[in-house]
Amino acid sequence: MPNVWFETVAEAQRRAKRRLPSSVYGALLAGSERGTTYRDNMAAFAEAGFAPHVADLPAKRDQSTTVLGQSVSLPVVISPTGVQAVHPEGEVAVARAAANRGTAMGLSSFASRPVEEVVAANPQTFFQMYWMGSKDSMLAQMQRARAAGAKGLIVTLDWSFSHGRDWGSPRIPERLDLKALARFAPEGIAHPRWLLAFARARRLPDLTTPNVTAAGEQAPTFFGAYGEWMQTPPPTWDDIRWMGEQWGGPFLVKGIIRVDDAKRAVDAGAHAVSVSNHGGNNLDSTPATIRALPAVAEAVGDQIEVLLDGGIRRGGDVVKALALGARAVLIGRACLWGLAAEGQAGVENVLDILRGGIDSALLGLGRSSVHDLTPDDVVLPQGFTRSLGAPRRARTP
Ligand SMILES: Cc1cc2nc3c(=O)[nH]c(=O)nc-3n(C[C@H](O)[C@H](O)[C@H](O)COP(=O)(O)O)c2cc1C
Repeated sequence: MPNVWFETVAEAQRRAKRRLPSSVYGALLAGSERGTTYRDNMAAFAEAGFAPHVADLPAKRDQSTTVLGQSVSLPVVISPTGVQAVHPEGEVAVARAAANRGTAMGLSSFASRPVEEVVAANPQTFFQMYWMGSKDSMLAQMQRARAAGAKGLIVTLDWSFSHGRDWGSPRIPERLDLKALARFAPEGIAHPRWLLAFARARRLPDLTTPNVTAAGEQAPTFFGAYGEWMQTPPPTWDDIRWMGEQWGGPFLVKGIIRVDDAKRAVDAGAHAVSVSNHGGNNLDSTPATIRALPAVAEAVGDQIEVLLDGGIRRGGDVVKALALGARAVLIGRACLWGLAAEGQAGVENVLDILRGGIDSALLGLGRSSVHDLTPDDVVLPQGFTRSLGAPRRARTP
């Protein structure tokens, strides 16, 4: 067996780029408009520095924590992403990798594998939904996810259907029928490892969304489901409260960037929020999540769990987020690059890289537990943070 281990997430991304047809790679890279938010999510982590010690350092460091009531061995959870066509085992490979490394995963309602299979591979699964379709169909999805054993619900709110990209969007077919396959063939032939993985698994890249229906119903295509979502009037905070009540268990509101919205999520009964801008795929020029985190954590961190996602590529990024008030982080592309590069082993590799980086940072900062991190552990340049939707402080004369 060749050694397929990679040392950084950047290397996993390079391999993913080599292995995937360019349209599939482009769909994962995503971003929107100018790509300002996509880049700022990562650039802001590079602007934040550490303030390390050199002696009296802890010989042992502990990364374990809980997220939505689930014990996890490191403060990193897999973010929900629609990963169609990346790898034949898709979300099931991710679920196995997360379970092997002792952590939880979010399963997108636009995922390619049924929630029952994913929960069987990782019982610590949180099911993710959008406000989409009728209340009856949302209830049916929730009932199905609960019956499958999902441990929590993620409601993602930050999507405003912004589709253009200055660098061009990949062409993704509605279905992989013969016509689409013929058009796609040159890209596939140029990436034989990707093609071979699907050939070995005797399946075609699946562009349907089996989790947006009740069990046993015909699954719509990704674009069919997306079209229905576009037609659905956006939810009110009362709708979000209704959703949480219907779920009846731990529920996380994903996509919060403003303090006032974080407070409304608390009022709507959320147990957690993720400070998120959808990885820079939505409303471009929304600030990086790490810039918005401190104000949100200060406002609601003593009432609910505050998580963060967006731009996490190394263990040091995780530690910076925790120091600035997050309980844990979610990873999107880092997981997708690992999956595309080496399947389940690649996702395990990514989680190991993050665990190693968190451990180094804890050692350097002299912290024996992720729970001991504080804002003093990081240095921020002036004007780094963004306080969105917070009441303005009275001006001192
Ligand atoms: C290709 C792709 C698909 C995504 N699909 C979903 C989704 O179905 N549901 C969701 O809540 N978030 C989705 N996201 C957003 C991620 O959950 C997460 O917020 C984002 O990727 C975090 O940024 P990062 O990629 O820099 O880690 C998607 C992100 C990407 C890159």
